[in-house]
Amino acid sequence: MTVAARPEELLALAVDVAGEAGRLALENQDGIDVLDTKSSPTDVVTEMDRRCEETIRERLLRERPGDSVLGEESGSDSGTNSVRWIVDPIDGTVNYLYGREDWAVSVAAEVAGDVVAGAVVVPRHGDVYTAARGAGAACNGQPLRAARPVRLDRALVATGFGYSAARRAQQAEVLRAVLPQVRDIRRGGAAAVDLCSVARGRADAYYERGLKYWDWAAAALVAREAGVRVEGLHHAPPDSELLLAAPHDLFEELHDLLASLGADTTG
Ligand code: IPD
Ligand code: CA
Ligand code: CA
Ligand code: CA
Repeated sequence: MTVAARPEELLALAVDVAGEAGRLALENQDGIDVLDTKSSPTDVVTEMDRRCEETIRERLLRERPGDSVLGEESGSDSGTNSVRWIVDPIDGTVNYLYGREDWAVSVAAEVAGDVVAGAVVVPRHGDVYTAARGAGAACNGQPLRAARPVRLDRALVATGFGYSAARRAQQAEVLRAVLPQVRDIRRGGAAAVDLCSVARGRADAYYERGLKYWDWAAAALVAREAGVRVEGLHHAPPDSELLLAAPHDLFEELHDLLASLGADTTG
């Protein structure tokens, strides 16, 4: 069943629920501890990851019964219409655990499989990134445009690493080859914030292997609506092995370097 849902209405709800969860997480950041681990000892979960996801899920389903929700901490449920919410309750849990600032609540809305609205709230920065498909992206209500592309050797490139040791060894090899070819590297620790940084011109490009859909669903829309190209290698969709985001000319240069390194296949 399809349900009338304008992207702007879905965006307003995404902003609202992400803001509510962001306030909850912010109030409880001091003294937070590890509650559990997932795929590896470094893949941690705190009580707040779970509570924020519950808060978001309950609110979304209360306001829009029939929608479905896919969240990092509790998986997916099935709804009765074509609207699905993609939720990362705290993106950047390790930063959150250490009292750092780069963590975000990410909420995207899909209609019939396409992301049409996305909100990324970064409470410690006071930033709310928003995008509705075809209607542009904004940060705190100010329209976002990506920086003009620079050459690769002048590019500030953000990246991140997965939680498995074997995967990290491979990512380190790729990084070793990339680092001498760029202005510098940033490892911010929250994929959604990294993507929004490219949308805002605070990094020139971002790439990461092995992301999950909830890491990038909302922020990729923000980046795209700000004029950033977001794709996998070899024209693959962003849900493939490696996600790459950069303004067009720089995208090509970084793409070719990463492809030549087998950054999406090695390891
Ligand atoms: C992680 C962060 C990190 C990225 C990892 C993600 P989480 O998400 O976005 O920056 O490098 O790949 O899994 O677990 O903190 O939500
Ligand atoms: Ca995440
Ligand atoms: Ca998370
Ligand atoms: Ca996690």
